[in-house]
Amino acid sequence: MNVLVTAGPTREAIDPVRFVSNRSSGKMGTAIAQAARAAGHTVRLITGPVALPPPADVSLVRVTSAADMLAAVEKNLAWCDWLIMAAAVADWRPRHPASHKLKKADGPPCIEWEPAPDILATIAPRKKPGQLFCGFAAETRPLVREAMRKLRDKNLDLLALNDVSQHDRGFEADTNALTFFDAAGQRQPLPLAPKSVCAAQLIARMEKLHAKKI
Ligand code: C5P
Repeated sequence: MNVLVTAGPTREAIDPVRFVSNRSSGKMGTAIAQAARAAGHTVRLITGPVALPPPADVSLVRVTSAADMLAAVEKNLAWCDWLIMAAAVADWRPRHPASHKLKKADGPPCIEWEPAPDILATIAPRKKPGQLFCGFAAETRPLVREAMRKLRDKNLDLLALNDVSQHDRGFEADTNALTFFDAAGQRQPLPLAPKSVCAAQLIARMEKLHAKKI
């Protein structure tokens, strides 16, 4: 399969030297790219700014903002059989990033915000028969109802719910505990495990969904 994976945070500019971002390390998405490659798939990884070595034998596209990531996903959409969106894409961005560095002497800036493009929601209507889309939900209060709504709204085949309220899972950690939800309403909670193990479980789950579809 041709597998397109996104990883890491995005950065949204406030001015040429400042940005807003989030705590995503890119470890989960990178582990997914590695697990997909190890399972014999052809992998392209689109990553926001991360401090990780690029995975071997995976083609890498580096992006900065949500808009860049959307453009990179759109460019690779027709190529991929599976899209796995593990990136923590910004939800909001400054509406008017300053073209010059804001001066401290001018006092705290008043920043007007606008929604960043929702990549999955944008491309959801363009999903072709046979393609599989997987999304992540990073929540501090995991709600099953919310997970099911996201699955529907973003036209996903699989949603990996990620509790980010504890230190041993989610953002920055080397371990994670995912709960899978599929479009048939099946819920599968997995135990805490290294992200490499979670990633292999996710790829195995995508392979099962693929086998069901054909
Ligand atoms: O709605 P929520 O942001 O929780 O959805 C998370 C899923 O949507 C993740 O797979 C994430 O990569 C994706 N997402 C996106 N574009 C955004 C925000 C999130 O594609 N602007």
